[in-house]
Amino acid sequence: MSLFKKSLIQKSYKYKLLEDGISKEDILEAKNVLDSKQITMASKTRKFEEMFAKKMGTKYALMVNSGSSANLLAIFAAGNPLRQNNLKKGDEVIIPVLCWSTSLWPLVQFGLKPVFIDIDPKTLNVNEDELIEKITPKTRCIFLVNVHGNSCDLFKVKKIAKKKKIILIEDSCESLGSKLKNKYLGTFGDFGTFSFFYSHQITSGEGGMIVCNNDKDYEILFALRSHGWLGGTRFYTRKLKSYNYYAKRYPSLDPRYIFVNSGFNLRPTDIQAAIGLNQFTRLKKLIRNRKQNRRLIINSLKKDKRWKNQFQFIEPAKNINPSWMGLPIIIDKKYKKQKMKFLSYLDSIGIETRPIISGVFTNQPATKLYNLNPTKKKFNKAQSVQELGFLIGLHQKKISKDNLFLIRDSFLNIDKI
Ligand SMILES: Cc1ncc(COP(=O)(O)O)c(C=O)c1O
Repeated sequence: MSLFKKSLIQKSYKYKLLEDGISKEDILEAKNVLDSKQITMASKTRKFEEMFAKKMGTKYALMVNSGSSANLLAIFAAGNPLRQNNLKKGDEVIIPVLCWSTSLWPLVQFGLKPVFIDIDPKTLNVNEDELIEKITPKTRCIFLVNVHGNSCDLFKVKKIAKKKKIILIEDSCESLGSKLKNKYLGTFGDFGTFSFFYSHQITSGEGGMIVCNNDKDYEILFALRSHGWLGGTRFYTRKLKSYNYYAKRYPSLDPRYIFVNSGFNLRPTDIQAAIGLNQFTRLKKLIRNRKQNRRLIINSLKKDKRWKNQFQFIEPAKNINPSWMGLPIIIDKKYKKQKMKFLSYLDSIGIETRPIISGVFTNQPATKLYNLNPTKKKFNKAQSVQELGFLIGLHQKKISKDNLFLIRDSFLNIDKI
């Protein structure tokens, strides 16, 4: 029987993963799109992409229907035959073992060989020096996951990747708005991906974005997102350089229906774009509020006379100005055996919790199905995060006193569980 009886009835939580994630204005924006009857991808998507690229400081941004889709596109674009130095089946890709399912699966779906590496439990991210040590002549790509608003020294990793002609992809699905020395996470690599799923820094329900700086990469992403097609929407075609080239080269084809690449359908709707765009305009405020809530929760625990370092909190990595998604927490190892009971207790009194991403991903049965860790390599540091870590939400509005007390008192009850 599940320890988490309430998980499917989110409304009964007093402290949810996310509270009031969608504002009245967001709903109005979505309604305007519905009223216009232009629901499929159109001008709102385009506008969101343009604003996103401008703010992130990248040449291009392309919206998709989820962060997972953005990861899928990144890998299939990196391996596309139209790309120079493209990935080939069997190539080795370094990936942190503390990752999300769809950080990993696009590699497997393309036929690449994931090489898992451990993480630094203090930041939840890989350590750049340990990562660089793991690079071999077979490494063709580094697929980094910027976990919970943190990252390693991406300047250093980027420099090495460039020197060794290794493709660098950043899964920044959990880190929208975090900066490393004033540069946004997700903008260091050849591709950077973002998620707008529920409880992320901004949410459009479902949604995601992929950024890049190279014209060719953008055109590949563009075609792959939508059936392998360069046309398909009057909101874009004029911007695409190769459109006229193909139209001239294939005069017998209807120029609106030229398929130039393989493809998926990963397009968002303009409803998602309208909500995402509206949220994006208040990202700064959302980041500020989450930071303040994090501070309030940690202070209320640490200032209480019952505080005995029962928990540790993940701090920003060196030179990171963080944009937190949730509040990852590591319990002291003396409570290791009680952890699930403690989480079940939090659940029963109305505090919603989650694991830190999916823990050590090679522990998951799906990786056994594909024999992804044939040597049964151990990842001790990520393992400790799996065994001792969990997460509560950080809300976009100031946390109420009631919820602050609820968290403080229940957390400090851990000794009695
Ligand atoms: C690191 C990471 N990558 C990818 C994703 C997938 O994003 P989505 O849920 O939008 O598909 C998530 C989801 O939370 C994530 O945490």
